[in-house]
Amino acid sequence: MNRRLITSALPYVNNIPHLGNLIQMLSGDVFARFCRSRGYDTLYICGTDEYGTATETKALEENKTPRELCDYYYGEHTKIYDWFHINFDKFGRTSNEECTEITQSLFKDLDEAGLIHEKTNRQLFCPHCNRFLADRYVNGICPKCGSSKARGDQCDDCGALLDPVELKEPKCATCGSTPEVRETKHLYIDLPALSKKLDEWMSKTSCEGRWADNAINITKAWIRDGLNERAITRDLKWGIPVPKTGYENKVFYVWFNAPIGYLSITKQLANELAKAGKQSFDWKSWWLPEESEEAKGKAPVDLFQFIGKDNIPFHTVIFPCTLLGSPHNWTKLYHMSSTEYMNYEDSKFSKSRGVGVFGTDAIETGIPADAWRFYIFYNRPEKQDFQFMWKDFQEKMNSELIGNLGNLVNRTLLFVNKYYDGKIPAAPVDEELWNEVKAREAKITELLEWAELKDAFREMFGIADICNKAFQAAEPWKTRTTAPEQAAKLIRNLCYVIKDLMIMMNPYMPQYTQKVMSYFGKSIEEKKVGTETKPGLNWSDLAKTDGLSEISATEVYFTPMDKKTMENFREKFSGNQKERKDAKKTEQKPKKAEKKAEEEVLPFDRQAAHFSNTIRLRVAKIIKVDRNPEAEKLYIEHLDDGTGTERVIQSGLVPYLKEEELLGKHIILADNLAPRKMRGIESRGMLLAADYTSADGKECVEVLTAPWAAPGTEVVLEGDPVPSSKPETISADDFFKVEVKVVDKTVQIGGKKLVADGKPLETQFTVNGDVH
Ligand code: MF3
Ligand code: ZN
Repeated sequence: MNRRLITSALPYVNNIPHLGNLIQMLSGDVFARFCRSRGYDTLYICGTDEYGTATETKALEENKTPRELCDYYYGEHTKIYDWFHINFDKFGRTSNEECTEITQSLFKDLDEAGLIHEKTNRQLFCPHCNRFLADRYVNGICPKCGSSKARGDQCDDCGALLDPVELKEPKCATCGSTPEVRETKHLYIDLPALSKKLDEWMSKTSCEGRWADNAINITKAWIRDGLNERAITRDLKWGIPVPKTGYENKVFYVWFNAPIGYLSITKQLANELAKAGKQSFDWKSWWLPEESEEAKGKAPVDLFQFIGKDNIPFHTVIFPCTLLGSPHNWTKLYHMSSTEYMNYEDSKFSKSRGVGVFGTDAIETGIPADAWRFYIFYNRPEKQDFQFMWKDFQEKMNSELIGNLGNLVNRTLLFVNKYYDGKIPAAPVDEELWNEVKAREAKITELLEWAELKDAFREMFGIADICNKAFQAAEPWKTRTTAPEQAAKLIRNLCYVIKDLMIMMNPYMPQYTQKVMSYFGKSIEEKKVGTETKPGLNWSDLAKTDGLSEISATEVYFTPMDKKTMENFREKFSGNQKERKDAKKTEQKPKKAEKKAEEEVLPFDRQAAHFSNTIRLRVAKIIKVDRNPEAEKLYIEHLDDGTGTERVIQSGLVPYLKEEELLGKHIILADNLAPRKMRGIESRGMLLAADYTSADGKECVEVLTAPWAAPGTEVVLEGDPVPSSKPETISADDFFKVEVKVVDKTVQIGGKKLVADGKPLETQFTVNGDVH
């Protein structure tokens, strides 16, 4: 098994990362966790990309030194990645001495090989700011169309590509002074001289390492169009010094040193371990194994890199050329996982405009990290762009994460707790089920070997779906008494499939899966016990059908997102970061008038799942009935809902039922429906009643009841766990998304019966009809 060196693109450190940036770090994390679980010797490296014009300019604006600015943002980035549970072996920085050292030494290699050339060119210089102006930092009039919207190297009006020195009336974008033209010399890397080597390397590696099509196409186009010499120095102060006379006031171009950061951060880790007196390693055993004693006898290294598609040429052309031009045989890219873009609602994520959900925002929402990780990987933009939509987030979370996976876990574990006293029943292996599961597991492993993270993840949800269907079809709540060995077989096997799902999903949702396995008394993470480390469950434990015995009490982990909450988030995170901050500061932003939501009933086949995740019904006993003096149709019903505290609801039943027809009844209460004021009195819930027409043609109403069930008993769909996990309160919209129907005197939602204590609700007079 080859060793696996994993990197994700080093994020710029002059801003807070948004979800679009986080994809790279998260992808590397999922892959690294998978590799560790499979037993590969794995190293996952990332860190902040700190140098360059953007940082220098931002520091200037904020009246800080670039280093102060980077220190601050490095801290912010670290907090965010920690919160998302990204498990880097090292998250370092490019502004450390290790990066300077390796960058300078690689540069010397290239220079000695005759691959570095000097050229002089003319560039704009701001005498006030005392610096050369990088392209974006000069405004002026377009020499082609006369528009005043020309910025540095491009005119926003006519689109012409410009050389900044051609601009008429140029102005420094920072201070407004008129810059002057000065001659400056720069060093260039001779890419044309490396073209052949690059072509050979790329043809071989792109096949062996199965590069994505976008990567192959972009790289081939670069080679085909002919490589140009590229400047690797800049007139800046914030960067790595160029070790050459005449270049004392210049630094390396940030894109020259940034990828070298992958190497230098590895070295940073080794140095830090050594300094702390811990067991260290030779960084070259990963990056230059031929020249490392420590790598002798070890397997070769495969380098997997996770990047966004806009970074492709830097990783397939420019950086490999730096390495190919050196006389050493460096570890070079093997497989690249380059994602497409993730867009936000109707526009693009943008740091400069502050659009989107930023790491800090995600933390603020209170949505658990694993729910974000779920949504990101369920949609990872592998072959096409993906649009982050709050509504879709809500739907996928409620239907897949909770409705499918969470439901399987909950109902199975609750069943064991309730009916088998927490002990997984003994039963034979269900060969048929396992054949299907094992086939899918093999496919998942194969996909993950090539970092096809989204497809593998979806396949796992496919397994959960199969299991839910098996549960539904086997009806263990019935067979438990009629054919106990059948029920036991189903439940036992589902427990083991759940164990497999948790192992496979652990890279994606480390906290949730760890929690679920803790109910089985197991751990996926390795655990330190005294001086020993006890290994956790890993890939080699898949498809095993022994070793589990008991289940402890479970808790709810993910709560469904209701429509209101979703809309609030969408509202809150619309506009840009700055507007939001300002709004917070002044707190004067008027609330948008709440839209009167239309009643939207879900498609029939989705109603049952919505009910199971959202709506809570309970049995309650009417202990007193009053009339609302303000409203002639309204009764005020006082209820015993099993909590010990009296509860009051109102219903418009006066025209249909007498007080004594209600008193003492065990009615069905919409328990978590948000309270609402009716004619001056708050109603905390609603009772369910069915409409029917009497023999003499009168419109009648009967209240649904469950006389056998004690107040407080939860009313659920047949097969659902009791108690269920549902939100504390839901909106009326959420309630009316399902239609409760009377079918042959039973009460149903989405074709499934409502039951209290396992016994279906029945109507007395209504044969078929609607419940309100
Ligand atoms: N900071 C760059 C970006 O966010 C990525 C740098 S990747 C590296 O686009 F290879 F240069 F490190
Ligand atoms: Zn200036």
